[in-house]
Amino acid sequence: EEAQGMSKLIGIVNKLQDAFSKAGIPSLDLPQIAVVGCQSAGKSSVLENVVGRDFLPRGSGIVTRRPLVLQLIHNADSYEEYGVFLHNTAKKFYDFNEICKEIEHDTERICGSKLGISPAPINLKVFSPNVVDLTLIDLPGLTKIAVGDQPKDIDKQIKDMVLRYIENPSCIILAVTPANMDLANSDSLRVALEVDPQGKRTVGVLTKLDLMDKGTDAMDILEGRVVPMRFIGVVNRSQKDIDGKVDIHAALAAEQEYFRSHPVYSKVAHVMGTPYLAKTLNKALINHIRSCLPEIRRNLEKRLADAERELAALGGDDTDNRRKQVAFGALSAFSRSFSNLIDGAPTDYEEIK
Ligand code: GDP
Ligand code: NA
Ligand code: MG
Repeated sequence: EEAQGMSKLIGIVNKLQDAFSKAGIPSLDLPQIAVVGCQSAGKSSVLENVVGRDFLPRGSGIVTRRPLVLQLIHNADSYEEYGVFLHNTAKKFYDFNEICKEIEHDTERICGSKLGISPAPINLKVFSPNVVDLTLIDLPGLTKIAVGDQPKDIDKQIKDMVLRYIENPSCIILAVTPANMDLANSDSLRVALEVDPQGKRTVGVLTKLDLMDKGTDAMDILEGRVVPMRFIGVVNRSQKDIDGKVDIHAALAAEQEYFRSHPVYSKVAHVMGTPYLAKTLNKALINHIRSCLPEIRRNLEKRLADAERELAALGGDDTDNRRKQVAFGALSAFSRSFSNLIDGAPTDYEEIK
């Protein structure tokens, strides 16, 4: 009931996100969770574990070169698990290897086969009985040096792209830091604290707990004594596990066992690991959306007014403009129902086609 109604909020925000993307209006100010970390911190591993499927391109170096807006949609009525891309909604991808290839393909389409980056997001929905409703954005990993043909200022380009998402007060920041690295050197925490100095909308994720030096542990960090922020520890598959094709479900079971049997972490095992992280994020996102609703509405009205002015200036002859007008019409109808919904009035909002 309450929980279910609130979960609907994520669905509504997802629809808004799509509508904005289709109308070509930037929608960076919708509540969402952005995943931030340096290259190889374990961002893709965390996302895959949350979804429970292998579907992200991986490899060393810069693999994520466009933001990936990943909408997880809990589908209790079906055993089916599939993905749909916003750039090709007609096709349901049941094979998650194909999803991976499509992400690679669409990255190259926009960024080229070299190592360039682009702020144009790839939008992917995953429908599954095994996920909680979440919208996560995978961003290119923070880096310090350009490689190959990359522009010399690639570090700044990536940081600026990350900042564009996370400086928005309605963005929850998932700051991924490997436990085998000194927290003081964590780029993700540094950028997160730049825009959220008190860590109010940041969730820290500590990966690679299994790779810490023998005899050391991360309790001081996990319990907020180093940086005053909530941290959740996870253990993802190692490169060796991936090369040996260790199944993601086996990996999740191993993670649970790791915490349950650990001499130090066993006493905090119930607030560690991927399933706890997913639940925490779902709750955080719902609370966040709830508190952002008035601001979302103000923003929506402003964006619509701006878009209306722009469209009027464009005139309406070529196909592209017509398509924009159709998308805009749907968006404004939707936004009216959205406002009604916020007011608690009964509503019957239209599906955006
Ligand atoms: P990303 O660049 O931040 O997306 O990082 P990836 O998820 O691709 O991980 C980079 C490398 O670290 C891969 O070889 C992973 O197998 C490894 N890795 C990630 N998380 C962990 C972890 O918790 N434990 C161990 N042992 N290896 C990890
Ligand atoms: Na967007
Ligand atoms: Mg990655």
